[in-house]
Amino acid sequence: MKRLARKCIEKLTPYPPGKPIEELERELGIVGSIKLASNENPLGPSPKAIKAIKQNISNIHRYPDGSCYYLRRKLSKKFGLPMNKIILGNGSNEIIKLVVHTFLSPGEEVILPFPTFLMYEKIVQSFAGKIVTVPLLDFSINLSAILTAVSSKTKIIIINNPNNPTGMGLNKKDISQFLHSIPSDLIVILDEAYIEFSTDPDIASSLKLLESYPLLVILRTFSKIYGLAGLRIGYGFASETIVDSMNLVRQPFNVNYLAQAGALAALDDDEFVEKTRTLTQDGLLFLYSQLDRIGLEYIPTQTNFFLIKTPLGAHETFQRMLKEGVIVRSMESFGLNDYIRINVGLPEENKRFIKALEKVLYTKLETG
Ligand SMILES: Cc1ncc(COP(=O)(O)O)c(C=O)c1O
Repeated sequence: MKRLARKCIEKLTPYPPGKPIEELERELGIVGSIKLASNENPLGPSPKAIKAIKQNISNIHRYPDGSCYYLRRKLSKKFGLPMNKIILGNGSNEIIKLVVHTFLSPGEEVILPFPTFLMYEKIVQSFAGKIVTVPLLDFSINLSAILTAVSSKTKIIIINNPNNPTGMGLNKKDISQFLHSIPSDLIVILDEAYIEFSTDPDIASSLKLLESYPLLVILRTFSKIYGLAGLRIGYGFASETIVDSMNLVRQPFNVNYLAQAGALAALDDDEFVEKTRTLTQDGLLFLYSQLDRIGLEYIPTQTNFFLIKTPLGAHETFQRMLKEGVIVRSMESFGLNDYIRINVGLPEENKRFIKALEKVLYTKLETG
């Protein structure tokens, strides 16, 4: 039979999302499980966003503002960049896709660290791009190895700061040096989905670098620090030329009505952002101290999630934790077979995680 899907699509493997709570409970016939697998905000959505969404619900018979005017205006004020350098997407995932769709021709190369956020690879493959992977060095993105990997076929470099799944951040100075060392015709996507969680002043947004590196695209999301993952809204900063080109490809109503209303209000919710940061830092301190007590290795993070090395291996730990009603992320699909990744939860969820983990590890000892 004639092939239906394009060749590059047939090669794709499905993205392994964090297991939904409802699915686990249905499968195991249990209730009260917790999910620490998708780096979501355990506090829920920004209360200001919830209020704005409720206020706007009766308008959803209208198409949304296709230009996201008010949101771009607010982001422009907040970040001190002109409105025409800002683009909104159906999640920052859509903006990654827009960059690749707009600028990458089949066969051109995209350099990615490995492991990193799995969606990059998938998006590049779906546009028949060639992926060049550069292994992390001590769980950090290796900028000098990426520089060495640049070839005449390279079109895009994607860097995630801090990096998912390792939580390691890159120094502002190193990013700046890197951008000034690469050929000036390369597009660099700098995904800052978790930058608001960083506590190290040297690991901060590279927005300023947009002035000196015109082909830089910086991505942010409302999914994490504002707790709006289910709304699907993210934003990006780039030169006017890049934004204009992406707007040619972008669907006119890519960001829905309620997402725009919720995000607009969330940008004023400094109290919620601060609460999220404090909860994350307190949670990390608790989890680190408990893992030290149990004697498990972990990778300290600049985000709201981190890696834990488990003697049971990633898959077995994931499976056994499921039976305890705790959804963690196995790092097998990221090539880290001995690691699980968890995000910080509410204090009671963090305690439950530790209790379940200890139980799971003890069972291993008893059964040999
Ligand atoms: C590194 C990274 N970038 C982007 C995203 C996607 O964000 P959004 O929900 O805005 O599409 C995620 C989501 O987990 C992520 O981990």
